[in-house]
Amino acid sequence: MWPRSPPNHKEWQGSGTTAHFGDIVLGRCYTYTQIVRPELRDKDCQKIQEAFLKSFLSKDPCDATEQDYQPLIELANQTVPCNKTVFWSKTKELAHQYTRVQQALFTLENTLLGYIADDLSWCGDSGSSEINYQSCPTRRDNCSSNPVSVFWNTVSKRFAEDACGVVHVVLNGSLNEAFDRRSTFGRVEIHNLHPKKVHTLQAWVMHDIGGVRSDSCSSSSIRDLKSIISERNITFTCQNNYRPVRFLQCVKNPEHPSCTSGI
Ligand code: APR
Repeated sequence: MWPRSPPNHKEWQGSGTTAHFGDIVLGRCYTYTQIVRPELRDKDCQKIQEAFLKSFLSKDPCDATEQDYQPLIELANQTVPCNKTVFWSKTKELAHQYTRVQQALFTLENTLLGYIADDLSWCGDSGSSEINYQSCPTRRDNCSSNPVSVFWNTVSKRFAEDACGVVHVVLNGSLNEAFDRRSTFGRVEIHNLHPKKVHTLQAWVMHDIGGVRSDSCSSSSIRDLKSIISERNITFTCQNNYRPVRFLQCVKNPEHPSCTSGI
């Protein structure tokens, strides 16, 4: 008899757990807590690594739950100051370039948990206590409750619940729809903002330099966002090509007309 999956047999369609997953988690945890945000130097990175591994090892990788991540979330718990939360959708690089310059601002990936997990992939198997480095399930495997998707849904929800004051979102105005109800931002984050804590959502709709200008503050997708936010009793504001972020785009394209005049 074969073992349940023969060596090198790809059980799932997605790529497997990132090589050296455990070491990367531990290393990133130390980098973040000792160097990036030393105010968190007392966090126990060994325990955080252990809780992360425990959240998915020996479990069915199509049946991950929010509860699986609760111990990890509690260990990594961190407060983001009011007015400093930045959400993004289809603008990951630009949003991160901005918070890199404005170090008081936080995207999810500028918090400990997001920093540790950024761009990693992971999964296990209910029949073994090992990490699966061969393949991991995705939506294509009809498995939306996989450990990675459930993780991002869970931590994004928590990130939004914890936000307070004015919050910001960087949206991509070069897409047909800058706001997409099916994105993590549209599906999870906006519905988990607490109207008693968050008084305003400020949207920055950024257009690629030299790209098409498909969507803007006056478009139907943004009107859609505005109505969801207003119904939740949160004030909505929107700016096209918010200047501080536009300047970052211009660093890469200093000669483009939109960067040399009227900016
Ligand atoms: N690394 C890897 N995958 C990620 C990360 C990350 N740092 N963040 C999100 N993901 C996953 C999510 O499952 C998400 O659906 O990749 C997808 C990113 O898709 P986009 O459509 O570009 O953006 P969106 O779905 O709106 O997710 C970004 O959610 O994670 C939060 O706070 C974050 O506001 C941000 C939003």
